[in-house]
Amino acid sequence: MKHIFKQGTNASKPVLLMLHGTGGTENDLLPLADLIDPEASVLSVRGNVLENGMPRFFRRLAEGVFDEEDLIFRTKELNEFLIEAAAEYGFDRTNIIAVGYSNGANIAASLLFHYAGALRGAILHHPMVPRRGIDLPDLAGVQVFIAAGKNDPMCPAKESEDLDELLTGVGAETAIHWEMNGHSLTRTEVDAASEWYNAKFGN
Ligand code: MLT
Repeated sequence: MKHIFKQGTNASKPVLLMLHGTGGTENDLLPLADLIDPEASVLSVRGNVLENGMPRFFRRLAEGVFDEEDLIFRTKELNEFLIEAAAEYGFDRTNIIAVGYSNGANIAASLLFHYAGALRGAILHHPMVPRRGIDLPDLAGVQVFIAAGKNDPMCPAKESEDLDELLTGVGAETAIHWEMNGHSLTRTEVDAASEWYNAKFGN
């Protein structure tokens, strides 16, 4: 997958896996990685699907309606890419924290839904429930921060609440931060995510 890898200055820190929103690229979220942990290595990936020229991590049939078959295929592809990238760049595959916005948050949630041990944690900005009605893996000890908008027209608040419930139901430890700025990725939610990250993973 097209990506940027930046070696961090502290190899004991998690690797931040940056996953952009629809129409974004692997460059978009690099400033966020720097705000969250300037010492961490960063793996920022571009989605392999194009929708009218806009990169995404999986196909959708309509806004908010996912192509499940493609979601499953692309989630596997990303999971396999993480194994390859860990071998190529020499980082610990079990120490990845995903940071995703919108479509990127949804593929991160899908990694959690489909693969035990795919992520040590995740920061999900404006996520949805990637799939419903499936058995989730045991996520005991996985740390998840959700930032969502009470008035987000793209990713309704109920989606974040349901996602939170599904994740905690299989043992994940979650925190939710609410905003009132629609679908925007705001500085206040990024600051809240950084604070959460430092409490969980800072040393
Ligand atoms: C998705 O398709 O993943 C969600 O609708 C959010 C987005 O538009 O990226």
